[in-house]
Amino acid sequence: MSLKPKSADESKAEMTVRMFPSDANPAGNVFGGEILRQIDLIAGLVAQRHCKRNAVTASIDRVNFLKPVMVGNALILNARLNYVSRSSMEIEIHVEAENLFTGVKTLTNTAYVTSVALDENGRPTDVPPLLLVTDDEKKRFAEGEQRMLQRKRERKQH
Ligand SMILES: CC(C)(COP(=O)(O)OP(=O)(O)OC[C@H]1O[C@@H](n2cnc3c(N)ncnc32)[C@H](O)[C@@H]1OP(=O)(O)O)[C@@H](O)C(=O)NCCC(=O)NCCS
Repeated sequence: MSLKPKSADESKAEMTVRMFPSDANPAGNVFGGEILRQIDLIAGLVAQRHCKRNAVTASIDRVNFLKPVMVGNALILNARLNYVSRSSMEIEIHVEAENLFTGVKTLTNTAYVTSVALDENGRPTDVPPLLLVTDDEKKRFAEGEQRMLQRKRERKQH
């Protein structure tokens, strides 16, 4: 498997999904679990695009539900790699709800997902480094590294 550095642009993804009554409670609010499912799906896609291997979700940082998503809305997810370490990758996801009658888009969630690449034996394995070109990419990487260290500290406490 090639470990040539790759840019975050090569693996970033956007996904739009329409929300149906089966995704929501009787009042029409889309379940948090459905939004988490979509976050998990797009993060896995970005991770696998980067490492070209099977990748599993190791953690999803605290997700806040800032505004409701209603039945009939389109859920728009944008996901991008911030940081990669040896086998782990941090993906940042922004979720918006679009009212299809008015076109108004509202930010409803942000999340950080850590995915881990696995080899043929299901063990964590090295991923390509992240190519950092812009100041924004360098800033995201440095901040991602700090969050990764914080996650490690928290795991040690458990
Ligand atoms: C994620 C998993 C592969 C890690 O395996 P492990 O034996 O703990 O591996 P290690 O301790 O060697 O850690 C491997 C990497 O994962 C990272 N990691 C492990 N647990 C983590 C967690 N809870 N959150 C974030 N990163 C984590 C480590 O920091 C390490 O990163 P690095 O290689 O970039 O330094 C393992 O815990 C697992 O299989 N979990 C279940 C995953 C799953 O089923 N997800 C849902 C379906 S997709």
